[in-house]
Amino acid sequence: MNTVALEGADSETLLVTAEGYEELRSELETLRKDGRNRMSERLREAREDGRTDDNPALYDLFVEQAQLERRIASLEAQVVAARIVAPAADGIAGIGSCVQVASQVEGKDAVRGRHGSGVTEVTFDGLVLLGAPGRVMTPRPASEQLVAAAASRLAGRRARVADVGTGGGAIAVAIADACPGAEVWATDTSRCAVLLARANVRLHGLDGRVFVRHCDLLEDVPAPVDLIVANLPYLPASTAAEHPDLLVEPFDSVFAPGDGLGPYRRLVDAARTWLADDGGLLLQLHRQVLAATRAELSDLGAALDLGEPVAAAAA
Ligand SMILES: C[S@@+](CC[C@H](N)C(=O)[O-])C[C@H]1O[C@@H](n2cnc3c(N)ncnc32)[C@H](O)[C@@H]1O
Repeated sequence: MNTVALEGADSETLLVTAEGYEELRSELETLRKDGRNRMSERLREAREDGRTDDNPALYDLFVEQAQLERRIASLEAQVVAARIVAPAADGIAGIGSCVQVASQVEGKDAVRGRHGSGVTEVTFDGLVLLGAPGRVMTPRPASEQLVAAAASRLAGRRARVADVGTGGGAIAVAIADACPGAEVWATDTSRCAVLLARANVRLHGLDGRVFVRHCDLLEDVPAPVDLIVANLPYLPASTAAEHPDLLVEPFDSVFAPGDGLGPYRRLVDAARTWLADDGGLLLQLHRQVLAATRAELSDLGAALDLGEPVAAAAA
């Protein structure tokens, strides 16, 4: 690569020769067109093989797609940051003079504020995971406290854990990663989320300990469960306009009818059946973790009915 590092230069500036710049542009164009087209074809073929619900080849392709998009994003950033260093001999500029080319391509902000279509990468609890912006809720740092609370309760014990409403599987994967004794059952009602979660489980080599199911709440999870964790939708659908930052997320992943607490009420009810006698429940609500032992489920249910769960059960 004909790129040059320059002592004292703006760290966001990349000095390249004209030849190096052409290499960057050419790879970028090839990946944007041929790379993405080829990837779409391969994804279509993998989906058509009839095993959409549990298709390892598809999960591997998601990983490749994320790598492709990461390379494209990196090339876009380099092209935007590039300054061509033109030698005097070419008759255009003097030795060491720089030609600002950023204005000839998209602005830096446009590149920073945009994600490629399809699958991208996100970091959660120190783990790199696949994300599908717009189709599956992107995990938030606030949910890392749910992982910490789960890890502290499990304290290295062998345990069966359920992550209800797993989305892309971030919480399930992070708990399994932090707690080698945990067997994690992750559920979601969104098929897209289930696919993405399975891809993330495979990406982290956790297929033997994390099982993803497409079902309502705990329906396909074997009982008894030692710990249930959940970050389900809890915002009232009527307040959607007050959360413009969440409009990019699938509506059903963050908003629920009425006061928004219906999914948690149903989960507290289901927990009575699924939890082991000494089991516990951890719910994320408004950036707080609510905790209840099996014996405290009635209190938590009553607090949810009163709309005052935070004061009653904040961990
Ligand atoms: C707020 S998102 C959280 C996703 C993930 N847990 C996270 O923290 O990134 C809630 C998820 O719950 C799922 N969900 C909603 N209702 C559900 C239900 N009854 N059973 C299982 N999953 C459900 C949604 O599809 C969505 O993926």
